Amino acid sequence: MVELITSREKLVNYLESSQLSRGLVPTMGNLHQGHLTLIKESINENDLTVVTIFVNPKQFGPNEDFDKYPRTLEADLDAIRSIDKALDKNVIVFAPEKIEDIYPEGFSSTISVHGFDQILCAKDRPGHFDGVTTVVYILFNLIKARRAYFGLKDFQQTLIIRKMVKDLMIPIEIKLVEIVRDSNGLALSSRNKYLDLKQKEEALTLTKSIKKLKDSLLKSGIKDTIKMKDDILEDKRFVYLDILDANNLHPLDDRSKEAVIAGAIMIGTTRLIDNTLVSLNVR
Ligand code: PAJ
Repeated sequence: MVELITSREKLVNYLESSQLSRGLVPTMGNLHQGHLTLIKESINENDLTVVTIFVNPKQFGPNEDFDKYPRTLEADLDAIRSIDKALDKNVIVFAPEKIEDIYPEGFSSTISVHGFDQILCAKDRPGHFDGVTTVVYILFNLIKARRAYFGLKDFQQTLIIRKMVKDLMIPIEIKLVEIVRDSNGLALSSRNKYLDLKQKEEALTLTKSIKKLKDSLLKSGIKDTIKMKDDILEDKRFVYLDILDANNLHPLDDRSKEAVIAGAIMIGTTRLIDNTLVSLNVR
């Protein structure tokens, strides 16, 4: 059964009376197959799945798309109900109506994870990850799930959340889910909604560039690949494009076992991200 809960009080009451093991899937809604894959994994692995839908103001910059971010609760509920097992298992959708149900009046705390703050998305979105870790920490506290599910599409986000869990000893298992793409290879994103057909094609520049760098890294090594990356960056639509150690987002060195190639691109006014992991064991 899929049940909608729109207040913290009702959520807390529900959870207090439930002994079922919990999986948590935090989202900002406008659910697509990427989100649904996370939800399916949680449904498979837990007796109760809590999907949260909250467009978190703290993770948007002043000139970003908080106001126009798509809010599609009814369609989201339908999408979750269309998952096969959602009807047999217990699924709660927590979509708080009042911002105070996440940030109590006078809220003045921030969770900051340092070490990943001058790279990739942190560079052009100052404060973004503080907003993410603060809301995720609150959701972890509120829901007390055994497992939480995050997509590798937001690779830096997964590293930062895992570091927060480790540093603050939060008793939760973080499960990571592969990037879900459309038939052309474009990573699914709620922000793809802003793109017309031509722009969707243009957005593939990012995916294709990452793929090209991956092939080069495996074939020709890091030096040639960095040169190729710098050439690609001549295209000013790129916000960043980087090849880093996937373990710590430092530059690759001899000990690196896995690389992440991550990029962000502006298509019109829409900022899109993508990445891929490359195993370096073969070197
Ligand atoms: P949102 O962008 O809604 O994404 C929710 C979750 O879905 C994230 O873990 C994200 O990585 C995952 N996801 C999005 N697109 C995906 C895709 N194409 N394939 C696989 N997984 C995908 O990420 C956030 O919300 C917020 O920062 C949040 C964690 C909810 C905190 O507000």
